[in-house]
Amino acid sequence: MPTVDVHTHIYPPSYMSLLRGRDTVPYVRNFEDAPESARLIILPGEDAPNKPSTARGRPIGAEYYDITEKIKFMDAHGIDKSVISLANPWLDFLPKDEAGAAARSINDEVDSICSQYSGRLYAFGTLPLSAPAETVVAEVKRLKTLKFMRGIIMGTSGLGKGLDDPALDPIYAALEEQQLLIFLHPHYGLPSDVYGPWASNYGHVLPLALGFPLETTIAVTRMLLSGVWDRFKELEILIAHSGGTLPFLAGRIESCIKHDGHLKKEDRLEKMRSVWDVLKKNIYLDAVIYSEVGLKAAVDASGADRLMFGTDHPFFPPLDEDETEWLSVKSNYAAIKSAFDGDDSAAKAVLGGNAVRILKLDG
Ligand code: URA
Ligand code: ZN
Repeated sequence: MPTVDVHTHIYPPSYMSLLRGRDTVPYVRNFEDAPESARLIILPGEDAPNKPSTARGRPIGAEYYDITEKIKFMDAHGIDKSVISLANPWLDFLPKDEAGAAARSINDEVDSICSQYSGRLYAFGTLPLSAPAETVVAEVKRLKTLKFMRGIIMGTSGLGKGLDDPALDPIYAALEEQQLLIFLHPHYGLPSDVYGPWASNYGHVLPLALGFPLETTIAVTRMLLSGVWDRFKELEILIAHSGGTLPFLAGRIESCIKHDGHLKKEDRLEKMRSVWDVLKKNIYLDAVIYSEVGLKAAVDASGADRLMFGTDHPFFPPLDEDETEWLSVKSNYAAIKSAFDGDDSAAKAVLGGNAVRILKLDG
């Protein structure tokens, strides 16, 4: 059974040129205090002028855009197949008249990268979400015709108002009809004042460890509350970072729904699907959670047959540049090993069998 990485990113060369040509977030730049190394500035607030250079974005090297580095990383970590996806913030920031053409060209570029390593690489496509809904729907249909595409990656902003926006319905309908799953990935985190006035003393820990998973959890809960899965019963979503905090909070979400007088008065309680039902029928979770505790919650919530190994490469490289084996990857492997101690077939399913079945990687 192959080992498959379903959470692994790339900024293909044309996207890098786009970032190099910009001077507002997101962009790539060489700063005066370290002119020899380029930095990738993507997260909201990451380029505040008072930040030390080590808190401004992250160093960016070939592992972010050169596919041969991805293949080397896969070989070094025993990964047979990867489902690559454009990293955040995708095309969210593009003007609406540029997004459609940019999505077509990046999706073609990524599909062609996959074709160079046939059998090892597949991809999640990118949608032009700032364009009119018809343009987005047309790209969903076109993606289905590209050989290596197995779904789409998207952030939590949707068309700009979040994933409970009724204007997304034609896009959800197209994804459901084309049987392309959504890989839901965070980017925006929480409002920066939540992190407090000393946040820059703490590097990226607060936005990445907590902002990302909470952003994801809120986005999925808004989808649930707005009835997305009541209207699109077959719509499938793979949630990054083992669902943010969804497995841990599902009981509380369900309880708050059942105790909400407004929902009862509006007659919505009867119609709304249970979060537990959606977790087991529409939601897949990656295994990018770095510990046995979180992984077991994901297994309990969605089932071992809906969980898929991931690395988040090229993010979270070892701080010691000479280290070839990545701590982030070792932690995810170790979590699977200890969570499924003695259940080899479940471990193998999470490491690759589920991805091959769910994403049809053997055809
Ligand atoms: N940081 C990001 O900006 N994106 C990721 O996917 C992981 C870390
Ligand atoms: Zn990621």
